[in-house]
Amino acid sequence: MSDYTKKIMVTGGAGFIGSHVVRLFVNKYPSYLILNVDALTYAGNLENLRDVENLRNYQFERADITDGEALSVLFEKYGIDSVIHLAAESHVDRSILDPLAFARTNVLGTANLLQACLNQWKADFSLKRFYHVSTDEVYGSLGKNGLFTEETSYDPRSPYSASKASSDHFVMAYYHTYDLPVVMSNCSNNYGSHHFPEKLIPLMINNIKNSKPLPVYGKGENIRDWLWVNDHARAIDVIFHNGISGQKYNIGGFNEWKNLDLVYLLCSIMDKKLGREPGESAKLINFVKDRPGHDLRYAIDATRLNKELGWEPSLQFEEGLEKTVDWYLQNEEWVNHVTSGDYQKYYENQYAKR
Ligand code: NAD
Ligand code: DAU
Repeated sequence: MSDYTKKIMVTGGAGFIGSHVVRLFVNKYPSYLILNVDALTYAGNLENLRDVENLRNYQFERADITDGEALSVLFEKYGIDSVIHLAAESHVDRSILDPLAFARTNVLGTANLLQACLNQWKADFSLKRFYHVSTDEVYGSLGKNGLFTEETSYDPRSPYSASKASSDHFVMAYYHTYDLPVVMSNCSNNYGSHHFPEKLIPLMINNIKNSKPLPVYGKGENIRDWLWVNDHARAIDVIFHNGISGQKYNIGGFNEWKNLDLVYLLCSIMDKKLGREPGESAKLINFVKDRPGHDLRYAIDATRLNKELGWEPSLQFEEGLEKTVDWYLQNEEWVNHVTSGDYQKYYENQYAKR
């Protein structure tokens, strides 16, 4: 272990964004040890990391971040000096069904990790870093105008965003109270490969492919700001290395889409890929009962990250969406694995009565 220049625990590395972060770090920094710590919930999938799992500087440990004792053991075993924390319950609709699961993992789990850092690093914080990956949803819902900046007040409105907001507050509390060297980012909606098909884009791709109804909540007028997941991972790399302790950075693509327009765009991309007549897939669009407390609009001002750390998105949305559709069409086996079993029950429960 001692020949590594950094020993980083990445929590939630088997999930969607976490697997992209692990892949980037393991490949780009052979002198870093990357320890993926994941409980492998329904959203965690080691198949996401097949291409790096045999690399020397990658390790996996199955552990639950709500188990403080297990975290301490891993800190000691690997001599962890940095944490990139992504593990979370991440789906808003599930948070409406089971809010306490979100309080446990997102609030208690984050507090446990912070406490493990404090206990293990024993006030010697040189070359240490705790990076908390958070969301734009903590800022609440925008009207037609304006953008979320780092100074926007928190106003979470779903159990998911309330749990993430709470975790953000714990992170800042450890910075102010104990001088723990933390850094945090709040990102907009991600899309890309390995995205679990409970979320809008992969769910729609899967349903279009299988000619199933496309459940658009309400009138499809809600707006999200979409960023390619690889660009989020690049931002995390930049902030991890160059971000200022105690600072937060918004990450977003300046790329707002109304849900309905996005679903139409996906339909037209997939009509071409699947050799369907133009307009054929859009006939599957089905307006269903709205999500309770559905936030109208998210939009991120990522100026600080651009001006201070030089990051910008690398890909236009249409190109990224096409790459994403191609990945799903070429990775049927992955899709079949994650949509078997419990996914069917979740889907029935979530959409049958809408
Ligand atoms: P995901 O649901 O795909 O992955 C979450 C991962 O965390 C899974 O591998 C799961 O097994 C693991 N996990 C869950 N509970 C755990 C526990 N108790 N202990 C250990 N591991 C556990 O989520 P994602 O979309 O990749 O999001 C990752 C992070 O990024 C989250 O913190 C989320 O709030 C944040 N985020 C997501 C988005 C987005 O658009 N998906 C945008 C901004 C921020
Ligand atoms: O903004 C960042 C957040 O983006 C992350 O913090 C969350 O982890 C991530 O899940 C995502 O939250 P959203 O609720 O915005 O994403 P979701 O894909 O669930 O929904 C996107 C939009 O599409 C939202 O307005 C609800 C709508 N929707 C979603 C689903 C699943 C539908 O119309 N139909 C659907 O079936």
